[in-house]
Amino acid sequence: MPAFKAHAMQPSTLLDEQARQDFVGALRAHLSGRLMPGAYKVYESRVEPAFRARQGRAPIDQDEIRKPMTQDSFYQFWSAMQRRSQELLWESVIDPTERELSELLRRSARLRAKKIGKSGKDRRRGTLRLNPALEIPRYHRAADIHLQPGGYHTDFTTDDVSAGVIYDKGINLYMGGALGPENNLMGDTLLAYLREKHPERQPKRILDIGCAIGNSTVVWARAFPQARVHGIDVGAPVLRYAHARAVALGVAINFSQQNAEATDFADGSFDLIVSHIVLHETSKSALPRILGECRRLLAPGGLMLHLEIPRGRTVIEKFMHNWESYNNNETFARYMTGIDLQAEAMKGGFPAADVLVNEFIPKLDVAQMNYTEHFFWKILAAHR
Ligand SMILES: C[S@@+](CC[C@H](N)C(=O)[O-])C[C@H]1O[C@@H](n2cnc3c(N)ncnc32)[C@H](O)[C@@H]1O
Repeated sequence: MPAFKAHAMQPSTLLDEQARQDFVGALRAHLSGRLMPGAYKVYESRVEPAFRARQGRAPIDQDEIRKPMTQDSFYQFWSAMQRRSQELLWESVIDPTERELSELLRRSARLRAKKIGKSGKDRRRGTLRLNPALEIPRYHRAADIHLQPGGYHTDFTTDDVSAGVIYDKGINLYMGGALGPENNLMGDTLLAYLREKHPERQPKRILDIGCAIGNSTVVWARAFPQARVHGIDVGAPVLRYAHARAVALGVAINFSQQNAEATDFADGSFDLIVSHIVLHETSKSALPRILGECRRLLAPGGLMLHLEIPRGRTVIEKFMHNWESYNNNETFARYMTGIDLQAEAMKGGFPAADVLVNEFIPKLDVAQMNYTEHFFWKILAAHR
C-alpha cells in the first residue's frame, strides 16, 4: 500500500497496532481485488441467467437483483467479510488514537495557536470558528456513516479531535492508499477538472463545503495561495483536527462549523465553491437546499463544482456500489444512484443552461494509486 505521509496530528503506532492496520489493509485489498470480482461472476453466471429464464428479459435495475444476489452464498461470504473488515478498520485506528489522545489534544491546542508565515494577519494564520449551538442534521445523527463510531460530529472529550484523527488514517486504509499520501486525490481531481475546463479562473475567495479534516481544502489553498480559503463542516472534532493539521502542513485556512444548507456568509461571498464526496452523505431535502445556498453564496460569474463518487453504470455495478448503503450506513448514497443532479441544481435556483453534469477521469500522475484508472468521477458544475 502506498505510504501515508506522517504529520504532527497522527499518533504513532506500536508494533502490534501497525501489524493490525497492515492486516486490515491486506484483507481489504484481498476482498476488493480477489473476492469481489467473484460476485460479478455470480451475477453473470447464476443470477442474471436465472432472472432471464424467469422473466424473459434482463434485469433493469439493481433493486430487481437484490434478493437473488443477497441469497447467494458466495456474495454472502464476501459481504460479511467486507462488513467485518470495515469494523476492523475503525478498531485498528482507534486503538493508537485512544492511547495517545491526551498528547494529540495538547499538540492540537499548540498547533492551533501557532501562526504560519511571517505576517501575523488571520489570512496567514488560519482560523477556527466553532458553534456549539449548531443543530447536527438528522442525516448525521441517525446513523454513523460508514460505521465510524460517533460519526464526524461526536466529541468524546473536551476539545476533542479524535473523529478527525481516525477519519484521516481510516480513509487511507479504506481506499488502500489510493487517495494519495495526504488523502489528496479528491482535491487533485477537482482541481484538474478546473484547470482543464476553466484554465482562466484564478479564484480569490474559495469555499469548501463538508471539508471534514480539510484534506481537499489544503489542495485548493496550495493551488491558489493568494486566495482566502474557507472550509465548513457540521462536525466540531473534525474541524479542530482540520485546523491543527493544516497548520502542521503550513497552510492557512479558515474553518467554521456550519451547516451548508444555511450558512452565515453574506450573499456573493465566493467566486469558487467546491465539495468533495459530500452530497451523497446528506438527504433528499438537504441536497437542493445546499445547492440553493451555493447559488446565494456565489458572486456573479462564480462557479460551483461538486465531485461525487461514481455509482456504477451497469445494473450489477450499481448493485455492488449500493452495498455501502445497505451495509455501511451510507444511507442516502443509494438515492444518489438515480438522482438527476441537474434537476437538483435547478431546484436550488440555477437555470438549466448554467448547469453541467460530467463524468471525469483525471489525467493525474496516479502511478501509486492502484485502481484509479477505472475510477470515473461525477462532477456537478454550475455558474452564476
Ligand atoms: C465524506 S466526508 C468528505 C470529506 C472531504 N470533503 C474530503 O474531501 O475527503 C463528508 C463531510 O461532509 C460533512 N457534511 C455533510 N453534510 C453537511 C452539511 N449539511 N453541512 C456541512 N457539512 C456537511 C460531514 O460532516 C463530513 O465531514
